[in-house]
Amino acid sequence: MLPSRAAERPGSTTPQQPPPHGGRCFSQDRWRITCPGCCSRAGESSTTAAARFRAVAANSAPGAFRVLVVPSAGTPFLSRPSDVHATSVRCRVQSWSEIVITVENLTKTFPGSTGQVRALDGVNLDVAAGTVLGVVGPSGAGKSTLARCVALLERPDSGAIRVDGTDLVSLGGPALRAARRQIGVVPQGDSLLRQRTAAGNVALPLESAGVPGPQRRTRVAELLDLVGLTDKAGSYPDQLSGGQRQRIAVARALAASPSVLLADEPTSALDPDTTGSVLTVLDRARAELGVTVLVVTHDMGVVRKICDDVAVLEDGRVVEHGKVLDLVADAASRTAASLLPAVDQNPAAEGAYDRVADVVLVGFAAVGALLPEATSRFGVDLNLLGGGLTRLGETPVARFRVGLNGERADSALEWIAEAGGAVRRTLAGPQGVAA
Ligand SMILES: Nc1ncnc2c1ncn2[C@@H]1O[C@H](COP(=O)(O)OP(=O)(O)OP(=O)(O)O)[C@@H](O)[C@H]1O
Ligand SMILES: [Mg+2]
Repeated sequence: MLPSRAAERPGSTTPQQPPPHGGRCFSQDRWRITCPGCCSRAGESSTTAAARFRAVAANSAPGAFRVLVVPSAGTPFLSRPSDVHATSVRCRVQSWSEIVITVENLTKTFPGSTGQVRALDGVNLDVAAGTVLGVVGPSGAGKSTLARCVALLERPDSGAIRVDGTDLVSLGGPALRAARRQIGVVPQGDSLLRQRTAAGNVALPLESAGVPGPQRRTRVAELLDLVGLTDKAGSYPDQLSGGQRQRIAVARALAASPSVLLADEPTSALDPDTTGSVLTVLDRARAELGVTVLVVTHDMGVVRKICDDVAVLEDGRVVEHGKVLDLVADAASRTAASLLPAVDQNPAAEGAYDRVADVVLVGFAAVGALLPEATSRFGVDLNLLGGGLTRLGETPVARFRVGLNGERADSALEWIAEAGGAVRRTLAGPQGVAA
């Protein structure tokens, strides 16, 4: 049976437990709780905070308290409160780079009218615990097939799917049913039972699992609270908006405390406002319950708002995969092309500069300070010729086309790159070479 990731919310105390986190790092004799999300230093980007936390984790003694860190949402929770009660604490700091889902060389073929359709063609993917992964790609790329395979609703032809280390493909009988309970699914489209109330829909998986009435009611109330629909408990699906129905579907998928939540196009039929409320709920599931979320979507806005990682599928293959904030720094990536502000060509304006470059800056500190500092350090004249600012999750990100005049223009660009900016010289302009 897969270990449950059902989490305690921070703040519940017994004499043996550490005090509520209170939004600050603290350490005591045996406890050390550190998280970059709520303890980011002023002006620190989440990337820098993440690197700092990793260093803390690497240097932590085995007695360190186990904390799941949620970098962007900033709500840490004690992942195994029972560990606190142990006389000899053997927990470890769990970094979010711990892998919860591994997909290895997955293939799936369907019979088609003109021969076999290879929906998945050797897919490899790692998903880190407590992250939100966006699976994107054109229609027919294999996104839903991948999600269905991970949810064990579809058997792959070959390959492995490990969730918390267990290869799901090799399971059968009760072990398979137990593994399925660890994966909550929000299916594509309207999936609620019309004849049941919102609370009745959420309770369904608990009834199937034989959870007794009083516990069931408590759990349903918690889940309705999580998705912000306590007041709709008695409403029927037809009395709810599309977004509210999707939030109930998320609550239902979370009922059995899964470690993984799969949502296939959860916002495809929704307007932008309603989309936001559904995405907030997915983000809360990750932040407050520590669930790893895999969201299939056509909409790069979903990636922009809640995804830590993204996998781009095309013709059944993963053609790009990584952290969103890393991929946007690579100008050639599809993710950068979709998420960063466009830079219009303006050869006339660019011709007036000694050097012209595209610079991607990630995080508060970089966006706010790097270019002015380069200007003053190197005594160059630096102007913004195009591009702009955006936000990826909570992180501000900028792509600017900059023009520089001055003897030390090259040094200024090199310094920006060393300080964490992604610098790509354009072929336009007098320097004529791409760095
Ligand atoms: N049950 C099935 N029987 C036959 N072919 C299928 C089946 N399911 C998927 N396919 C085919 O496999 C390929 C991948 O389909 P899939 O639904 O995974 O794509 P998708 O990326 O989710 O597309 P969309 O964005 O349109 O939902 C498509 O060519 C599709 O027609
Ligand atoms: Mg699909």
